[in-house]
Amino acid sequence: MLVPSFLGLVALPLPVWAGIRYPDCAGGPLRSNLVCDATAPPDARASAVVAAMNNNEKLANLINNAPGVSRLGLGAYQWWNEALHGVAINRGITWGGQFSAATQFPQAITTGATFNDPLVEQMGTIIGTEARAFANNQRAHLDFWTPNVNPFRDPRWGRGHETPGEDAFRNKKWAEAFIKGMQGPGPNYRVIATCKHYAAYDLENTGSTTRFNFNARVSMQDLVEYYMPPFQQCARDSKVGSMMCAYNAVNGVPACLDPYLMDTILRKHWNWTDANQYIVSDCDAVYYASNVNGGHRYKNMNYNAAIGASIEAGCDNMCWATSGTQPNPSSAFNARTFSQQSLDKALTRQFEGLVRAGYFDSPNSQYRNLGAANVNTQTARDLALKAAEEGIVLLKNDDNFLPLSLNTTGFQVAMIGFWANAADKMLGGYSGTPPFRHDPVTAARTMGITANYVNGPLAQGAGDMNAAVTAAQRSNVVIFFGGIDNTVEKESGDRSGIAWPSGQLSLLQRLAGLGKPIIVVRMGTHVDDTPLLSLPNIKVILWAGYPGQSGGTAVMNHIVGITSPAGRLPATVYPTSYTSQATYTNMALRPSGTYPGRTYKWYPNAVFPFGHGLHYTNFSVGISRSFPRSFLISELIATCQSGSKVRYLDQCPFASVPLTVMNTGQRQSDYVALGFLSGIYGPTPYPIKSLATYKRLGALNPGEIQTAELEWKLESLARVDDRGDTILYPGTYTLVIDTPAPGLANVTFVLEGEQVVLDKWPQPPT
Ligand SMILES: *[C@@H]1O[C@H](CO)[C@@H](O)[C@H](O)[C@H]1NC(C)=O
Ligand SMILES: *[C@@H]1O[C@H](CO)[C@@H](O)[C@H](O)[C@H]1NC(C)=O
Ligand SMILES: *[C@@H]1O[C@H](CO)[C@@H](O)[C@H](O)[C@H]1NC(C)=O
Ligand SMILES: *[C@@H]1O[C@H](CO)[C@@H](O)[C@H](O)[C@H]1NC(C)=O
Repeated sequence: MLVPSFLGLVALPLPVWAGIRYPDCAGGPLRSNLVCDATAPPDARASAVVAAMNNNEKLANLINNAPGVSRLGLGAYQWWNEALHGVAINRGITWGGQFSAATQFPQAITTGATFNDPLVEQMGTIIGTEARAFANNQRAHLDFWTPNVNPFRDPRWGRGHETPGEDAFRNKKWAEAFIKGMQGPGPNYRVIATCKHYAAYDLENTGSTTRFNFNARVSMQDLVEYYMPPFQQCARDSKVGSMMCAYNAVNGVPACLDPYLMDTILRKHWNWTDANQYIVSDCDAVYYASNVNGGHRYKNMNYNAAIGASIEAGCDNMCWATSGTQPNPSSAFNARTFSQQSLDKALTRQFEGLVRAGYFDSPNSQYRNLGAANVNTQTARDLALKAAEEGIVLLKNDDNFLPLSLNTTGFQVAMIGFWANAADKMLGGYSGTPPFRHDPVTAARTMGITANYVNGPLAQGAGDMNAAVTAAQRSNVVIFFGGIDNTVEKESGDRSGIAWPSGQLSLLQRLAGLGKPIIVVRMGTHVDDTPLLSLPNIKVILWAGYPGQSGGTAVMNHIVGITSPAGRLPATVYPTSYTSQATYTNMALRPSGTYPGRTYKWYPNAVFPFGHGLHYTNFSVGISRSFPRSFLISELIATCQSGSKVRYLDQCPFASVPLTVMNTGQRQSDYVALGFLSGIYGPTPYPIKSLATYKRLGALNPGEIQTAELEWKLESLARVDDRGDTILYPGTYTLVIDTPAPGLANVTFVLEGEQVVLDKWPQPPT
């Protein structure tokens, strides 16, 4: 369609924008409706818009590609918008014009490794700001399906890199910081964040088991201790605007049809009702819950019955991808599979989310001023670089080989490998278009380094190695860019093993024989570094994960010593044998028989452990003698309850740990103080240790001493029993700073008195 031409100008076709158009509350059909009254309570406003709709209009709007209600001036609304580590390319988002690029931060696995929550919050603020700017300009909508906070249980999982890592407590803190930034301080949501995938989702496909039919059998103890904490944080403590239910079933019930998960736990036990928050289904999850091929065949329900069961269980919006069949809520309603009341409730929850995001407010309301000038700012670019630098982990640095000294005349560097100059690979899954891509080779050349670049294999088959050998022979140092990318670990594509790709290993073996020192920079998540540890001349292994738009610069800044790596591994590096010992579908955390257990809490034979990370300097740490050596449980609880605003006992603060950290080496560096707790208390077997508190200290100069308080809450001291109750037990506790034990400092204290239940877990129906 052409617009009329004025003043002789050539008419341009109207852009086909898919984003939101704010309803016209000043002149549109809703102008005198309560929904447009910004002073009214959000729930009343949401109810008012639902009351103005007829049933056909309501039923049409229960799906992600909601048509809106043109009679009421409500435009179409696409609930499916992605922004895991920056505004992404997906169906709810229209790129172009002034919105042709958005900041692409490192993936969550890399920002997980920063252990810097203020940084994660700043990143969330920028992603939310850019997302809102897209929405304000009709290029996106107001809700985004981020963060992905499922703990990274199994190293084969194709989507582990979307998460902050394997530790439930770390993911919880990451989620807290990210949501705080993304949704903003209120009163309106900057944008609505969506915690996914609720719950126990961490498998794409293994054999005939897929995410569409996997029944995760999870004990109450593992559920509460491991699979739930990030979601508890999202719902109960961070008041996230929405949640996504998962494809898989949990203990026999598909997550999107499960009133126990969505109502008993999420809405009731976690009090996730204060803002009438809504639940969206993962795309086609309701379809695959029904009796279709490849699905759960739950109670042999047909599609309409599954739709009804999902809405009755508390799912408010059904996403449809292209592989399933579009849900037909009208036909399901006519088949009486869900009630009028549940229909109205689902709609009200969705609209309350939009009300709280300012959808029905005036053009001068909060966040409506955000536009193109707020996207790709210098601040955002700087933070994307800083996040990558802080997330890079130094796994090995023999003879203090790094940082490189480049002052020799004629110094040349061979840069070899599949991602040495492949900048798109640094972004990972669910990405958008960055304003630039700073790959390692370009970054090196920008620094004036003579870089001899040769591509390398990603998977099997080393191919012709001559060019790489020639480049290495011509150079003083070899930097090898290896590991895996997100074509190897991907959504719908779990791996069967975690060995280093054989083609890369052959090439590395050849290069290692040349006598040149080799720096390996590994991207992606899990591969077993064992073979590299026994090859000669591999001096260094740096892990970068998916470092985002400035990943190449971040890597080179560390290599030449402009910055110092201080990230810590957010996930255990397992040996290759692990995947044959740990059956993928076994959700248990604790070892038993030949089953080796999962995560650093239970598995002792890591190649590199969770929390590992070296520095270009050394640190000494001291814990102040003022930290008490014994506590009375009854006193801890009483102090917390008297006059405090803490609503849940697990959130009661515990005595913070005063630390003194000194840089005893020669270079400036950050230091992440990781506090791991172990001890003799609660149910057996005892985990090896658990991350209980952490803090990243910035830029300690040689000889500098910084003090810090490690803050923590009773949640970090509690353990979970086999019913799922979270309990503070009497016993002996040891906090060790850093890994491996004995760490750099430790303190042992006792809790005395009677055990106290901090959170009584509602049991599932039998
Ligand atoms: C949570 O909700 C329950 C009702 O489901 C209520 O009894 C309880 O007081 C609420 N807790 C808090 C801390 O708001
Ligand atoms: C290079 O720098 C190092 C330390 O920064 C110094 O010890 C060395 O002498 C320098 N080499 C040359 C060739 O300048
Ligand atoms: C740290 O201290 C150890 C032991 O004194 C020493 O061998 C090592 O070289 C130091 N590392 C750095 C980076 O200074
Ligand atoms: C605590 O520190 C002391 C002194 O360094 C050490 O001997 C001990 O093994 C440490 N304890 C633990 C549990 O790491």
